[in-house]
Amino acid sequence: MLIAPSILAADPLNLGRDARRMVEAGCDWLHVDVMDAHFVPNLSFGPDTVAALHRAFPEVPLDVHLMMDNPEAYLRRFAEAGAAGITVHAEVPGDPAALLREIRALGCRPGLSLKPATPVEAAAPYLPLCGLVLVMTVEPGFGGQAFMPEMAEKLPRLRQAGFAGLTEADGGLRPDNLPLLVRKGLDVAVMGTALLHAASPAEDMAAIRRLGA
Ligand code: DX5
Ligand code: ZN
Repeated sequence: MLIAPSILAADPLNLGRDARRMVEAGCDWLHVDVMDAHFVPNLSFGPDTVAALHRAFPEVPLDVHLMMDNPEAYLRRFAEAGAAGITVHAEVPGDPAALLREIRALGCRPGLSLKPATPVEAAAPYLPLCGLVLVMTVEPGFGGQAFMPEMAEKLPRLRQAGFAGLTEADGGLRPDNLPLLVRKGLDVAVMGTALLHAASPAEDMAAIRRLGA
């Protein structure tokens, strides 16, 4: 299982220090939660932060999660900033298929994210265009929320719907709830609070990897 710390949980005044700590602890990706204060009631990072992370950690894939109402206006900027993957929400206005096609045309892995209230069936038409599907296990907008275990059922449902790409979960993931997600076949774990605030992130990541072995 791949580990993608979410820098949303980093100290805003020490973003580079905290990101480096995750990279040195052995994370696979860095997850960048982009929030526009419209799609979700919070405001976070932009393309400049992605570009700075890419300059500092050119070998670490940046997994950009756009919680934005108008992602079409920013896809190129995040791709040029160095995003390895760009994930948009199935709930945005407009046509997810066009967004996913443009993300792939820009050379990034296209991802589709489902809010808790959005069933897998709503994503079915778009799965062939996705390299990744992100199952939200909290209501998007804030780190540090409580994990919603009932969301784990979306993982096998995605496989039953024929999805062969990467599955990812985001929100409230902790070592104690990861075994459930591993049993359901999770590929990528997004973890903010649990890793950014960990005393020994390298040990925690090693323990997580043993779960997914
Ligand atoms: C919600 C965010 C959070 C974040 C992870 O929109 O996407 O889920 O990445 O937060 P933690 O791991 O602190 O719950
Ligand atoms: Zn996220």
